[in-house]
Amino acid sequence: IDIKTLRGVTGGVTTIDPGYKNTGSCESAITFLDGEKGILRYRGYAIEDLADKADFLEVAYLLIFGELPTKEQLEKFHDDINAQSHVDEDVKKILDGFPKSAHPMGVLSSLTSALIAFNPSSVNVDSDEEMYNAIVRIMGKFPVLTAWAYRKRAGLPLDYGDDSLGYVDNFLKMMFKKPNGEYTSNKILVNALDKLLILHADHEQNCSTSTVRIVGSSHAGLFASLSAGINALWGPLHGGANQAVLEMLEAIKEDGGDTKKYMAKAKDKSDPFRLMGFGHRVYKNFDPRAKIIKVAADDVLNDLGVEDPILDIAKGLEREALEDSYFVDRKLYPNVDFYSGIIYRAMGIPVEMFTAMFALGRLPGWIAQWKEMRQRKEPIGRPRQVYIGENLRDFKDITKR
Ligand code: ACO
Repeated sequence: IDIKTLRGVTGGVTTIDPGYKNTGSCESAITFLDGEKGILRYRGYAIEDLADKADFLEVAYLLIFGELPTKEQLEKFHDDINAQSHVDEDVKKILDGFPKSAHPMGVLSSLTSALIAFNPSSVNVDSDEEMYNAIVRIMGKFPVLTAWAYRKRAGLPLDYGDDSLGYVDNFLKMMFKKPNGEYTSNKILVNALDKLLILHADHEQNCSTSTVRIVGSSHAGLFASLSAGINALWGPLHGGANQAVLEMLEAIKEDGGDTKKYMAKAKDKSDPFRLMGFGHRVYKNFDPRAKIIKVAADDVLNDLGVEDPILDIAKGLEREALEDSYFVDRKLYPNVDFYSGIIYRAMGIPVEMFTAMFALGRLPGWIAQWKEMRQRKEPIGRPRQVYIGENLRDFKDITKR
């Protein structure tokens, strides 16, 4: 049955697939992954090559537009993004209304939604030009919102970036600029963050991306779809795992560093505890991103001259899991976020910001998937169910219940 015919079919047999473990929701030309072989490619390019040779903005362009940019295309994309990197001053008032302790992911999803009110033309994107404008708008404003979410918590003044810097360096400046304006670019940090954001940039139909596509399928608009995606990413079984991993490693350290105790806890079916950063819905041999990140964590810590005992605990857990039949039988290996928090921490990024950093990296992937969904004119996402409730019942008056 071809896809066109399939589109017209409803009311037939409904398959049940909890968690959509074996359901393809769309055709896509963006990201290829083979979970058995540990292969990940964006638009046909190996993740290992991209992480090693490209910068984040190049990869964002590749994901969104399908090809690696020429120098001119990349410069224009960057200029167009920079031209949109101001956020309406009234957004600061909304941010001010949040308590200082608000989680950055809640702040980010709310502010991304709030941007719709200030950029109403981003909702109707029927032409290529309108679509492009919406894309560069959010690529320009999202790093500002992310940096502001951090600065609000840190009690630092809110400010804008510096268009003369690269996308990632500019973001780091917005984050770490001192109140007197002082900031020194650090190549090690820029390279490390470029790599981390590239590794997180897309991952086919994961929970948050599926959310973006399904919300977008009602033509709700890019920013509304992204805001929903941010909320989906927040959960500890998805993007929130990076924060949960570091908190878990910290707890193991505080508890005397006994990794075996936590391995036993994770295996105990009467205990809801899971080894955070282990396991993946699709990768059943290894997560290629985790391999790259593990090496990067070593390099960044060495380059920065930071010694973090938590890295040893992480390596210890990984070693033990590789030899443990519970983890081996269930094909549970470290995922991308097992080591990412160690790098973020070495960069001076607080743990509550880790998932927001993931969102910054995933932004171009979400945009690319939303754009593909709209351009392919996909129908509204609307799964069926198998009803397991009561049969028809007689209505009972409230006095008789
Ligand atoms: N620790 C201990 N046991 C685990 C773990 C873990 N981290 N992950 C899975 N298991 C066990 C389950 O208990 C289950 O065991 P059972 O068969 O005896 O019942 C089996 O492995 C299969 O697990 P499922 O939950 O069915 O696998 P699923 O594909 O639905 O979940 C997930 C994948 C959510 C990633 C899961 O492995 C997990 O919770 N990991 C920890 C959280 C995490 O690191 N999330 C980040 C994922 S990567 C990302 O989103 C960027």
